[in-house]
Amino acid sequence: DKAGHKHFMAKEIAEQPALLADLIANYIGADNTITLPGDLNFADYDRVLMVACGTGYYACKTAKNWFETVAGMPVEVDVASEYRYREPPVGDRTLALYLSQSGETADTLAALRYTAGKAATIAAIVNVPESSIAREADVVLPIRAGVEVSVASTKAFTNQLAILLMMAAKAAQDRGKILAEGLIDGLRALPGILNVVLDAPDNVQSISRGLAEARDVLFLGRGAVYPIALEGALKLKEISYIHAEGYAAGELKHGPIALVDKHVPVIVLAPRDRLFDKTVSNMQEVLARGGKVVLISDEAGINEFGADAWRTLTLPRVHPTLAPILYTIPVQLLAYHTAVAKGTDVDQPRNLAKSVTVE
Ligand code: F6R
Repeated sequence: DKAGHKHFMAKEIAEQPALLADLIANYIGADNTITLPGDLNFADYDRVLMVACGTGYYACKTAKNWFETVAGMPVEVDVASEYRYREPPVGDRTLALYLSQSGETADTLAALRYTAGKAATIAAIVNVPESSIAREADVVLPIRAGVEVSVASTKAFTNQLAILLMMAAKAAQDRGKILAEGLIDGLRALPGILNVVLDAPDNVQSISRGLAEARDVLFLGRGAVYPIALEGALKLKEISYIHAEGYAAGELKHGPIALVDKHVPVIVLAPRDRLFDKTVSNMQEVLARGGKVVLISDEAGINEFGADAWRTLTLPRVHPTLAPILYTIPVQLLAYHTAVAKGTDVDQPRNLAKSVTVE
């Protein structure tokens, strides 16, 4: 049942605020204490290992930044297909986290089995609590996103991000670190903000019609939103079949700028945070080569530099730590509307399966 939407993907994008609110209410009490299943206490670990595939891997990359900056914990992140064959050393004070929407991804399950008996604790972050990955973990953290039908993952990703952020905040509390002011309250307010972004009549559709003409699209981001640039590129290539790459903005001049000309849209994710000026200077390098910049920022950022861009998208201002969750919404919408403009099979893109149970 698409609940009045044209595609499951559109329905699942629209469900995100309510699902996020439910997830937060499930794990954070009225007094802001975070309670995780299995009584996970991060004082018991000295590092975190996170392994996943695809979109889940980008959620882990986002979380690496959070665990490092919010909780001061070292984090290793890898794609399961690489991790499983590398035979990496695993410390006995490592919390090993396996993240999978389906809970059935073959490579992720194999990586989990490799660390069983080596890591202190094996935790699974899954959408399907009865799945293989959940069954083989010591602790299961359900993301409570409901059944995801669209092959391209959307609502599972935002709830994966939210649970990982709550874990990082819990890790900070467990390790006696002071949480940045306004972070938990900001997280609670986030579903309302996502609702506003989803409802706002904006220019996503006209930008998407422009993207639909492109052969290549670049996504740039720095810091907290760099993994969202990767996710934006993955979503666009999956459902619109347009070649898209996500890059750390600072890597642009180390190669990808050679691709830029007036035919290449470059989507720049740049909340007005402490790295904004750096990202803007990368954007200017793109403009100098005639690239078509789509600047996604907040009002302050758009007021300052929006005039130079081909198109802009203005998002509300949120706590900088929360920006990855917010900036996910426009990249999902751009991918969706570009695919609709191209007339592809949005929910069942060619060559892709929802659950990858073979390696
Ligand atoms: C992207 C997508 C895939 C999955 C990947 C892992 O939209 O859906 O990249 O994220 O196949 O799947 P799970 O999370 O089920 O292990």
